[in-house]
Amino acid sequence: MDEPWETTTGLTREEFEKFTRYCQADNPIDNSNRAKMLGVDAEGVQIAPGATLRQPERITIGKNTFIGLFTYLNGEVTVGERVLIGPHCCLSANNHIFFPERKHFGGGRQAPIVIEDGVWLSAGVQVTAGVTVRRGTLVCANATVTHDTPEFAIIAGIPAGQIGHIDLETGEYIWDDKA
Ligand SMILES: CC(C)(COP(=O)(O)OP(=O)(O)OC[C@H]1O[C@@H](n2cnc3c(N)ncnc32)[C@H](O)[C@@H]1OP(=O)(O)O)[C@@H](O)C(=O)NCCC(=O)NCCS
Repeated sequence: MDEPWETTTGLTREEFEKFTRYCQADNPIDNSNRAKMLGVDAEGVQIAPGATLRQPERITIGKNTFIGLFTYLNGEVTVGERVLIGPHCCLSANNHIFFPERKHFGGGRQAPIVIEDGVWLSAGVQVTAGVTVRRGTLVCANATVTHDTPEFAIIAGIPAGQIGHIDLETGEYIWDDKA
């Protein structure tokens, strides 16, 4: 690039280039470096750019689990092995409470979130405090999961409900008959 460097960021061209490359680094090598740097010990964990572990000392992530771009884990969240968490998911085990004397929200009330082995939370899924997503469940894009799910279920919607299940012999998605 030969044109003069112009930016509103205060960064040099080289700094800007490094940050741009970093944000694009959603690949197995860099995602596994990122997991190690964030202190995740379990083997084979990958964490994509922009994913945030808030209160990391309360978060557990199992082997070979993937945490997608800009996903947010907050508080007591336990994620099992071989779990896939897509981009822009939010798993917050912390809720605020309303202070009647001050008429605003603040502080916290906590309830743990558990994501069991082999779950897929697809893009934009929200899991609310106190919920367990059981083994092998598929949560469809943008669902908000407010209650515990059965194993090997397909879950969708707001609030999320079961719309199918996984065939354990073939792996096929079996959709409930809506008639
Ligand atoms: C779950 C998913 C993979 C299923 O895909 P599929 O097997 O092709 O299923 P279909 O699109 O045929 O959908 C089957 C039924 O479920 C419904 N459905 C699918 N996704 C849904 C969603 N996110 N919310 C509500 N309903 C949904 C469909 O409307 C359809 O019902 P219908 O027959 O009454 O129209 C897909 O819908 C999805 O959510 N993909 C997101 C992928 C993603 O997040 N990728 C990022 C990488 S992690």
